Amino acid sequence: MAHLDRYAVVGNPVGHSLSPRIHASFAEQTGQALAYEAIELPLDGFAAGIADLRQRGFRGLNVTVPFKQQAFAICDRRSARADRAGAVNTLGFGDAGIAGDNTDGVGLVRDLADNLGIQIEGREILVLGAGGAVRGVLGPLLERSPARLVLANRTPAKARSLAEDFRGMGHIEARPFDGLGDDAFDLIVNGTAAGLADDIPPIPPSLVRAGTACYDMMYDLQAPTAFVAWALEHGATRAFDGLGMLVEQAAESFSIWRGVLPDTAPVISALKQP
Ligand code: ATR
Repeated sequence: MAHLDRYAVVGNPVGHSLSPRIHASFAEQTGQALAYEAIELPLDGFAAGIADLRQRGFRGLNVTVPFKQQAFAICDRRSARADRAGAVNTLGFGDAGIAGDNTDGVGLVRDLADNLGIQIEGREILVLGAGGAVRGVLGPLLERSPARLVLANRTPAKARSLAEDFRGMGHIEARPFDGLGDDAFDLIVNGTAAGLADDIPPIPPSLVRAGTACYDMMYDLQAPTAFVAWALEHGATRAFDGLGMLVEQAAESFSIWRGVLPDTAPVISALKQP
């Protein structure tokens, strides 16, 4: 049998991950001989699980919930964007040890800018949430020079602290949900975990205006996410879920490992087929 380089996504739970399907499409498209699977690691056994997979000859791993911070901690070296994110979603195993990167932010920005035609430069952006998922995308968003990026979170102190961490990168400020007033935004990005409980953050519907684009970092193949449904209900003409971000972050990981950036458009549209 031909030798196949092995990769996987590790998480807990990870059974429903689309990553094996996405990477199989990339491998076929680019003619790369590799195998990619989903592996559930025990909640208390991340480091041992990684050591075992490395020893078994895996070349690289994607890391998902809840292990991205632990992945950050085990790296021998990390990219600047992983350092800023404080989390790692892509591990590469080589002679020089474990290399860590974070492709989530570039995945979001590429989906917004390249796939959906949503401009970030010079625009007013509201980001909901101040957890790990949001920290992971703030650097790449601010690198695109928005006019203003407002962080709003249920626990305002967390938004303030995150805004402080990224202050050097651009115009970023923190607000509580009930302090958004009559502000207008060109883009609202939901990075909270509220959707996991089919909930939405309590922001005023008046924030959605003609021309406001809404983007949920969560995705759901079966139905609109709670935030997308809320946005459409309140008049957003453009509301998107995070499927494109998922595929784009995978493409960037693939390119780190294999040196070739796959074409994401056919993979995104195949996933959207019923
Ligand atoms: P993740 O890695 O997904 O970001 P996290 O670090 O636990 O996970 O952060 C979850 C984020 O979703 C936080 O911003 C959280 O708000 P708090 O900081 O106030 O906890 C937010 N969140 C979770 N459930 C929410 C809900 N029902 N409504 C609003 N925000 C919610």
